[in-house]
Amino acid sequence: MTTRREFLKHSAATIAALTLPVSARAKTGPFTKLTARPASMQLAPPSYPKTDIWGYDGIMPGPELRIARGARVQRSFRNALPQASSVHWHGIRIDNAMDGVAGLTQLAVEPGQTFDYDFVAPDAGTYWYHAHNRSVEQVARGLYGALIVEEDEPPEVDREEVLILDDWLLDPETAQIDPDFDSVHDRSHAGRRGNFIATNGRPDLSLEVRQNERLRLRLINAANARIFVLSLAGLEGWSIALDGMPLASPEPLTDALILGPGQRADLIVDVTANQGETAHLVRIEDQEGFSQVAFPVTGLASAERRGEPAALPRNPKMEVTGLEDAVFVRLNMQGGAMGSLDAAVLDGERKSFRELVDANQFWAFNGTIGMTEAPLAELALGQTVELEIYNDTSFPHAMHLHGMHFREIGQDGTPGPLRDTLMMFGGETRTIGFVADNPGDWLFHCHMLSHAASGMMTWVRVA
Ligand code: C2O
Ligand code: CU
Repeated sequence: MTTRREFLKHSAATIAALTLPVSARAKTGPFTKLTARPASMQLAPPSYPKTDIWGYDGIMPGPELRIARGARVQRSFRNALPQASSVHWHGIRIDNAMDGVAGLTQLAVEPGQTFDYDFVAPDAGTYWYHAHNRSVEQVARGLYGALIVEEDEPPEVDREEVLILDDWLLDPETAQIDPDFDSVHDRSHAGRRGNFIATNGRPDLSLEVRQNERLRLRLINAANARIFVLSLAGLEGWSIALDGMPLASPEPLTDALILGPGQRADLIVDVTANQGETAHLVRIEDQEGFSQVAFPVTGLASAERRGEPAALPRNPKMEVTGLEDAVFVRLNMQGGAMGSLDAAVLDGERKSFRELVDANQFWAFNGTIGMTEAPLAELALGQTVELEIYNDTSFPHAMHLHGMHFREIGQDGTPGPLRDTLMMFGGETRTIGFVADNPGDWLFHCHMLSHAASGMMTWVRVA
């Protein structure tokens, strides 16, 4: 007779032998560390002192995490900062317990403490990770990095570049980060915007290319509040994914590309400038163009441009189904300077706008400042939601939903691209739809981090 113990031993060995290929065993190995700590780097030109930053593993951007679709990320986060922190994996349709929202999905990780993040990335695409406790300060100090999930069959390109766009608010003499993260003006207006604009921490990023070379550019806007308006010079191409999710077909880049805080865009571009010229990713500000990234053309990759690229392979569960039976939720965004908010509820009490100003709180959702006791919506698992958002303020906002992607529903009912962050300009009403297929408590907030810190934050519960 086989004893229970022998049976267990036997079957465990059999299962291990039969089902665990070497790579799968490697995946469950020890957690790799990810340490947030103070560091310094040469951010401003060399004639300036180094800038004190906070970085993952002491670098900025933090280490690029690159995995295959469906693979597992196991990182032991260690907090070596002087304040509590947490890590959010922006755009990953993640297990709620691993979403990294201090105060909602986990406790903030105190200085000297650790937290093990362990999750599977179900979708290929361009994602990023960043601090999610006092984000307005921690992200501004440099706590972010790219999280790249590779397609099973990546598109054919000559090379790929991850470009993280940010702006820094630096003291023009010392090149140190302005420590006023609670500035009344930034909070009540367009958010904290920097005076020093960089890509991957470089104000003058320059990448040598060859004529007719095909590049995949993965753009990530890590700025606190800056909306990047981008166009191409000496480069021509297509947008192939937004917020990590593939577009149904590549869209030619003819108009300017608007990249709000938290948003990403994947582009395929061909170098059309001649040898000896310099192509640019151009940033447009007040109708003027600036070089965000320079691409000096130093050779010839091929005699001719290639043909139009194919669409990226689809990710699982990309359709927003069940819109006919959707529950309807409405969100009014209010407040800020030059707005019409005259009173709102703060910590359970109704306050006049004057009192809100004194409390340095400026923004409300449906009449309440900041997180409410009850969620904005309590949703059954699998329920489809239609969320109508009215931006009754004078400012643009970048509305980010955690845990699930949504599609904007156009006037005629046609769904837009699948995204996780929606740019909303002043006075606009827009409707998004999503399937509440990921259980847990999920934040929905403005990714202009000064706005989130002064009221623009709510949550939904998927039961
Ligand atoms: Cu990228 Cu709640 O954040
Ligand atoms: Cu905002």
